[in-house]
Amino acid sequence: MFITFEGPDGSGKSTQITLLSDYLQAQGRRVYRTREPGGTPIGDQIRDVLHDVSNTEMRAVTEILLYSASRAQLVAQVIKPMLAEGRIVLCDRYADSAYAYQGYGRQLDMAMLQSITQFATQTLKPDLTIYLDLPVEDGLMRKRKANDAGEGELNRMDRQTRDFYERVRQGYLQMAQAEAERWTVIDARQSVEQIQREICAAVSKLKPPTADRRPPTADC
Ligand code: TMP
Repeated sequence: MFITFEGPDGSGKSTQITLLSDYLQAQGRRVYRTREPGGTPIGDQIRDVLHDVSNTEMRAVTEILLYSASRAQLVAQVIKPMLAEGRIVLCDRYADSAYAYQGYGRQLDMAMLQSITQFATQTLKPDLTIYLDLPVEDGLMRKRKANDAGEGELNRMDRQTRDFYERVRQGYLQMAQAEAERWTVIDARQSVEQIQREICAAVSKLKPPTADRRPPTADC
């Protein structure tokens, strides 16, 4: 089972991935948690290049190819083997981030993005994508607060215009609407506990992997 988490920085993805991972493991599930960009030694090196604030010359095409290179390595080296072992893979961002940020945000050609992404992912798609939705202003405020408190990094992708983040958010909402059976949109302004309940409810509706026929329960 392959579950991805999308949403702006500060939407609570990491916290919710930890809670879901703990919950599934307490049920005896074997869980593997990873993230993008990164998740492999090669991907982590690519992440450093992508996030380096001194890389002001980076072109949008270079950017999508680097994100895709990291993704290709992660899918081949980690995600596919883990799924083949019957694990539940939880990934902090995946290809939908590329459609949102490089497609809607940078306004790169969507058909081209789809080809690159299918090539990079070997057409692997998530079974479920949780989108933690936050108005742009709230996201920026959370990020500022975290930064003032000395938490979290401010990377190259945090230096975009408000319009860019607005396009990214609208892009996510459009994708979620177009493929509603895969996406679950959750209001990230709710309490941690309420968000967790909604995530568990979405996960419990998934068909269990063939290796494990017990359905996850919704009682978390
Ligand atoms: P994060 O690890 O703090 O979430 O930062 C990742 C940043 O990279 C975030 O701003 C979203 C961006 N990103 C893209 O622009 N395209 C992608 O394909 C991925 C995976 C992330």
